[in-house]
Amino acid sequence: MRTETPVTVYRKDYQPYPYAIPEVALAFDLDPESTQVHSTLRIERKADAPADAPLVLDGAELELVSLQVDGKPWPADRYTLDDSALILSGLPGAATIDIVSRCRPAANSTLMGLYVSGGNFFTQCEAEGFRRITWFADRPDVMSRYRVTLRATADYPVLLSNGNLLATHTLPDGRQEAQWEDPFPKPCYLFALVAGRLTHRETTVQTASGRPVLLQVYSDPGSEDRTEWALESLVRALRWDESRFGLELDLDRFMVVAVRDFNMGAMENKGLNIFNAAYVLADPHTATDANYEGIEAVIGHEYFHNWTGNRVTCRDWFQLSLKEGLTVFRDQEFTADMMARDLDPAAAASARAVKRIDDVVTLRAAQYPEDAGPMAHPIRPESYQEIGNFYTATVYEKGAEVIRMQHTLLGAEGFRAGMDEYFRRHDGQAVTCDDFVAAMESVYARQHPGRDLSVFRRWYRQAGTPRVAVSLDYDAAARQCTVTLAQRCPPAGVEKRAGDGYVKAPPHIPFALGLLDPQGRALPLRLAGGQPQDTALLELTQESQQWVFHDVPAQPVPSLLRGFSAPVIVEYNWSDAELALLSAHDTDPFARWEAGQELATRQILALAASQQSGAPMQADAAFIQAWRALLTDPTLDAGYRARALALPSEKTLAERMQAIDPPALAAARDFLRAELGRELAAEWRAAFDGNQTPGAYSPAPGPAGRRALKNQALSHLMAAGLDGAQALAQAQFDQAGNMTDSLAALSALVNHGQPQAAAQALQAFYTRWQDDPLVIDKWFTLQATARGTDVEAVRALMAHPAFTLRNPNRARALVFQFCLNNARGLHRADGAGYAYWTEQVLALDALNPEIAARLARALDNWSRFVPALRAPMQAALQQVRGHAGLSRNVLEIVSKALEFAA
Ligand code: TRP
Ligand code: ZN
Repeated sequence: MRTETPVTVYRKDYQPYPYAIPEVALAFDLDPESTQVHSTLRIERKADAPADAPLVLDGAELELVSLQVDGKPWPADRYTLDDSALILSGLPGAATIDIVSRCRPAANSTLMGLYVSGGNFFTQCEAEGFRRITWFADRPDVMSRYRVTLRATADYPVLLSNGNLLATHTLPDGRQEAQWEDPFPKPCYLFALVAGRLTHRETTVQTASGRPVLLQVYSDPGSEDRTEWALESLVRALRWDESRFGLELDLDRFMVVAVRDFNMGAMENKGLNIFNAAYVLADPHTATDANYEGIEAVIGHEYFHNWTGNRVTCRDWFQLSLKEGLTVFRDQEFTADMMARDLDPAAAASARAVKRIDDVVTLRAAQYPEDAGPMAHPIRPESYQEIGNFYTATVYEKGAEVIRMQHTLLGAEGFRAGMDEYFRRHDGQAVTCDDFVAAMESVYARQHPGRDLSVFRRWYRQAGTPRVAVSLDYDAAARQCTVTLAQRCPPAGVEKRAGDGYVKAPPHIPFALGLLDPQGRALPLRLAGGQPQDTALLELTQESQQWVFHDVPAQPVPSLLRGFSAPVIVEYNWSDAELALLSAHDTDPFARWEAGQELATRQILALAASQQSGAPMQADAAFIQAWRALLTDPTLDAGYRARALALPSEKTLAERMQAIDPPALAAARDFLRAELGRELAAEWRAAFDGNQTPGAYSPAPGPAGRRALKNQALSHLMAAGLDGAQALAQAQFDQAGNMTDSLAALSALVNHGQPQAAAQALQAFYTRWQDDPLVIDKWFTLQATARGTDVEAVRALMAHPAFTLRNPNRARALVFQFCLNNARGLHRADGAGYAYWTEQVLALDALNPEIAARLARALDNWSRFVPALRAPMQAALQQVRGHAGLSRNVLEIVSKALEFAA
């Protein structure tokens, strides 16, 4: 086997496709071993294309049966065929092309194109999977109307595709046939079909304009009682897009189908969303609070794509964030609005802050390291080797932050006006990120005559996380406080490769700030000529700028980057006492959380330094006191307190270390968790007892927040080894009426309990849930990330009969969780963890390159680790790099990692 040759694709090389393909008819004779696809394309050469422009159709792993043009066999000297393309030349200006081909769904382990899962057929075409189904112009700017015919034996009673069902028949040979038509032109990445034995749940609702629409959720027979939440979430999403953005469902029928083997979360195929079963199926006994929230969010996300992605799509894959950043922003807002619904204003603000905090935690744990490593790229990349590698935290999560900054700059109403303008201009088109910003800019320029978003556009061009240094200069005599913001963003990853000539320019940063007096009271902010405000939104558009606040009575304590108004790193030298003040009093719930997190970060980094130097670890009394104040603050709701009291993750902490030392960090976090348990034992116990959620299960934020705080208390009590804690955990495990509590108790037992009790509980849990794959995934994950799990233990778990590398959810539950979320287990000086990683990357690459490339990224930041780990990590990367037969997915990741030195 030959390693694939990397080809770099550049954004600047974009060329329009020379042909329009207005109509596509596809007829499938479905058979797992060999499916025949008859594709009929109506093609029209564009007016500005040269008359001899060849028709280049992408294709992969296909067998050609026949090729005709306008009903006649096409001569062999007028086409070429290789591994990746079918190229026709000498075509008339308009023609009908008939291609008959075969593919092998059952043998397709990549889960891209047409594949079989659980005996049923599914497709996944984004980004470049359609070429595995038939030869086509597999790029998002070629948009066609599709008519699809599906034929299969009685083993596949449900036959679905995009759009509306036209007819079903029984064929003379006894097979079933279904015909579908999608009235909206679409790129081929939005094509989908599903065929098999499925059950469904449905409802009919009226859209805002009074049209009835049929909503359906399909899943494996036997799971019909687990699709209620997904269907309800779909109705909520439909209503929300109508009320918040004035966007209605444009089809008569909208289907969601759950599948067990799936590379990602879900896919927004027009009218036929296909979902990882993990984001559809839920009931209180088997799904956690986080699962319920995740299902609602992903159902929302895919539904919202119908406008932001499908009606207006991407011109090319460099524009991916056009649809993903925007749609993540929309799903974040949807979740926040759902969480805040029916609450009084103060509780609503806290609920929204909880969602904001969770999103920022994700951004910092996943995107900040990416921006500081070999895969750093702008939200609109300039180049790629494999587009599958660019479905990243940067494109999605940072992309959403870039949209959110526009929302902040324009205000909610201005943003809505910008969205309306975007659809007015571009409905039905394949466009660029720049087109989106231009629509927003048309509103911004109206709001602020003479200003534009040209400086803001740098967020789309530049990688790396900007740093904003803040300084305060208080003049007591003049009662003035001068705030200086200075930003810098050193070249990152790809930009370094671009060479010395590359100059970065400061982007437009909306920076929200407040000031507190020394007693922690909010100070009204007065800028010259402005109304007093609680929070000032400073627009930093240059390297450095100053603002003067008037009538400031005392040296203030600044509350910075309120609401996380920009994806930057703030540099300001607060004293610990100032942070404690902010943590106790800041009226901005995000900044208040942030102050506590900064205190905890300092504490853990100090403990890790002690650990490294062999000095005894000792927790700071003032820190414990700040935690006690948060834990016992009656004004804070439980969900918010659970976030405020959560210790920063190892991933976030690692970003703050000069040289990353995972074992020292893990030891420091463990020590602090136990120390907090001992010092605040009575308070944790009160929180445990006071936040029980008896009665019927509800995934609403109120009870979910109480469970989060109660289970955090349990983990501290257990970590401290307090008398009675083991019994509390055991009782909760034995009696839990929902999966959140059951799993939390099991985790406490496994991580901190008596080994024998832990082993028994794990066995009992397995026995009870062995037939439920989504629960068994949780069982694997819990063990993969447990404190005591080393490489040897993971290898033993891989030998369990329930383990398989072929199911991505299972591989993620064990292998990925260990490699990405068990730093202590992976980063072992003898290299045993890296040897395991090497084996798994190679084994997965032979099955599923997209999934393998994601695992490959576990060693991205190898060059930033302590020297003792750096060498064995580099050696492991080199071993993968040298393996014959590597996919270009994995090749791109490991080559970039090896090129990179921090
Ligand atoms: N577009 C999908 C989403 O974000 C995700 C997606 C992209 C995907 N490529 C995929 C899903 C491949 C599964 C497999 O909603
Ligand atoms: Zn998406």
